[in-house]
Amino acid sequence: SEYETIITESADGIGVITLNRPKALNALNTTLMNEVVAAAEQFDADPDIGAIVITGSERAFAAGADIKEMSDKTFSEVVSESFFGAWDNLSRLRTPTIAAVTGYALGGGCELAMLCDILIAGDNAVFGQPEINLGVIPGIGGSQRLTRAIGKAKAMDLILTGRQMKVDEAERAGLVSRVVPAAECLATAKEVAVTIAGKSSIAAGLAKDAVNRAFETTLTEGVRAERGLFYSTFATDDQTEGMAAFVAKREPDFRNR
Ligand code: HXC
Repeated sequence: SEYETIITESADGIGVITLNRPKALNALNTTLMNEVVAAAEQFDADPDIGAIVITGSERAFAAGADIKEMSDKTFSEVVSESFFGAWDNLSRLRTPTIAAVTGYALGGGCELAMLCDILIAGDNAVFGQPEINLGVIPGIGGSQRLTRAIGKAKAMDLILTGRQMKVDEAERAGLVSRVVPAAECLATAKEVAVTIAGKSSIAAGLAKDAVNRAFETTLTEGVRAERGLFYSTFATDDQTEGMAAFVAKREPDFRNR
C-alpha cells in the first residue's frame, strides 16, 4: 500500500480508511494525520465515492494524539508548524464522513470521531478528552465540537476532569448517532455509507452543508442559507429524476448532476 499508518479500500461507492497503528492504539502522529487527510481528500475528489468511513480497531478507534511524538515539542515548534492544523481539512470535505468507533476514542481520537458527520459507536466505545491529565487541552476542536454536541455541563465535566465516558452515557448525551454491538460496528457504518452513496451526491453535499450551518450562524441566517441551498437543488437533474421516480413508483437513478 502507498500508506504506512492507514489501510484504504473502496467498493460499492464508498471509501474506507482504517487507522493502522495497533501497537500504539492508533495514536495520531503527523504521518497518520497526513495520510488520513490525503486519503480522505482523494476519496472526496473521486466521483465514484459517495461516502467515507473512518475506523480503527476493536480495542481502539484512536487513543489520542501521539504523546511520544508530542512530548518534546516546544511552543515555537507547534506554532510554526501549525501542529495538527491539517486535521481541519476533514471538515471541508463535501463527501459525507462516518466514524465507526469501537474501543477507545480519547483526546484526538474523540476529536477525529467528532470531525466526522455521523458517529456509529460499538457498545465497547469509550470517549473522553483526557488532555488535562497531560497538562494540555484539546487541540483538534474538542472544546468546541464536544460542547456543541453534548452541551456545556458534560463538556466541562469531561474536559476539566479528563474522565472517560462509556458509550451509554455518550449516547444519552447525544454524542453518537447509533450504538450497535462492537462486532457489527464497521459493517453498520458501511451499510450507512452505502445508503448515503445511493443518494444524489449533490443533494448529500448540500444537506451536510446545511446542517453544518446550524453550528456557524444564527437561526434566521441558517434558515435563509438552507432555503437558498434547497432552491439550488432544482437546478439539478437529480431533483427531476428523484421526483419523477417517486411519481412513477420506481427507484430513482441519481447521476450526481
Ligand atoms: C502514544 C500511546 C497513546 C498515545 C496509548 N499508547 N495511547 N502512545 N500516544 N496517545 C501506547 C502506550 O504507550 C502503549 O505502548 C500502547 O499504546 C498500549 O497502551 P497501554 O497504555 O499499555 O494500554 P492500556 O493499559 O489498555 O490503556 C489504554 C489507554 C491508555 C487508557 C487508552 O493507553 C491511555 O490513557 N492512553 C493515552 C490517552 C490520552 O491521554 N490521550 C490524549 C492524548 S493528547 P507501549 O510501547 O508502552 O506498549 C491529545 C491532544 C490532541 O490527544 C490535541 C493535539 C493538538
